[in-house]
Amino acid sequence: MAPKKKGDTPGVGLDLGTMNIVSARRSPEGVETKRMRDAFIDLPISARKMLALSDASYVERDGEVFILGDAAMEMANVFGREPRRPLAGGIISPKESDALEVLKLLIQHVLGAPSEENEICFFSVPADPVDQPEQDVIYHRGVFEKIVRECGYTPYPSNEAMAIIFSECALDQFSGVALSFGSGMVNVALAIQTLEGLSFSVARSGDWIDRGAAKSTGNTQARICAIKEAGVNLLDPKGREQEAITYYYKAAIEYALDQIALRFKMIEGQFSLPRAIPMVVSGGTSLAGGFLELFLQVFERKRKRFPIEISEVRQAKDPLNSVAYGMLVQAMQEYNDE
Ligand SMILES: Nc1ncnc2c1ncn2[C@@H]1O[C@H](COP(=O)(O)OP(=O)(O)OP(=O)(O)O)[C@@H](O)[C@H]1O
Ligand SMILES: [Mg+2]
Repeated sequence: MAPKKKGDTPGVGLDLGTMNIVSARRSPEGVETKRMRDAFIDLPISARKMLALSDASYVERDGEVFILGDAAMEMANVFGREPRRPLAGGIISPKESDALEVLKLLIQHVLGAPSEENEICFFSVPADPVDQPEQDVIYHRGVFEKIVRECGYTPYPSNEAMAIIFSECALDQFSGVALSFGSGMVNVALAIQTLEGLSFSVARSGDWIDRGAAKSTGNTQARICAIKEAGVNLLDPKGREQEAITYYYKAAIEYALDQIALRFKMIEGQFSLPRAIPMVVSGGTSLAGGFLELFLQVFERKRKRFPIEISEVRQAKDPLNSVAYGMLVQAMQEYNDE
């Protein structure tokens, strides 16, 4: 167990994403986050000597070495390979036979040792994907519960988009609609005073934008992703690639909003909304320049027929970390209730 620092509060939040794994803890200096890329690459054992010189995290296994996290992305570029990813479309990839072993190592790295025995860890689980009805999150949740427990923590699975309500909507009595635009998915939750009224996910987010723009312009997905992350102004795209990225962004936003309207109408009779509620956008995909403005443009055109009264649309303060923060808020609350 890690020695407890003076003033440290127990409880940890963990965001398990298709691209990033993030932990959040409370220390006397404020909230501390730790992030690692959810990726790895295998190299022959002969690469070990070279790796020993670098500060890359790696593990050895039957004649090969696995390089983990951000270093895997760099090595993939050096060797002209695609990095391997344990998650695909928001959930554990059925095609990646080494996913579970690698995920345990990545999570151990991001969580570190618990500050007390069986420290509480809230971890993110996506909502059921509505556009892939054959998929659910039962296996995914079970696997992560086991891994987090094996790391020495008490696991609490918790909805990804609800975490954004907990980190961003305290002043709205924890009411709002949250959208987490990640890599594999857009996760959506509607909450009224901390209670989840609706949640679902769709598989059209960052990877879908990259795939679509790549296919339309004859580029690799990795190249489009690099152009996108280097900074695109969605309100003023330059050149074919940026334009294609912008078209897919707009389509992803439209799709997410249409799905919210559709799903809400299906349950509308079951509860009433007391007043207008805010809509909060978050996730790495929302970091693109002009994202909030583009989102607003698309929303304004739908507002009249939108079944939920929205008071304002705003962006999370720290889009890559807001899910981990929201998980931490819930973990700390468990200790307060004692
Ligand atoms: N500056 C940027 N501009 C545009 N997109 C970005 C930027 N930085 C990161 N992204 C994109 O954000 C996505 C990763 O975001 P995030 O960490 O929220 O996803 P995740 O939680 O790992 O995925 P998911 O929740 O879907 O499983 C990737 O698609 C990445 O390309
Ligand atoms: Mg996410």
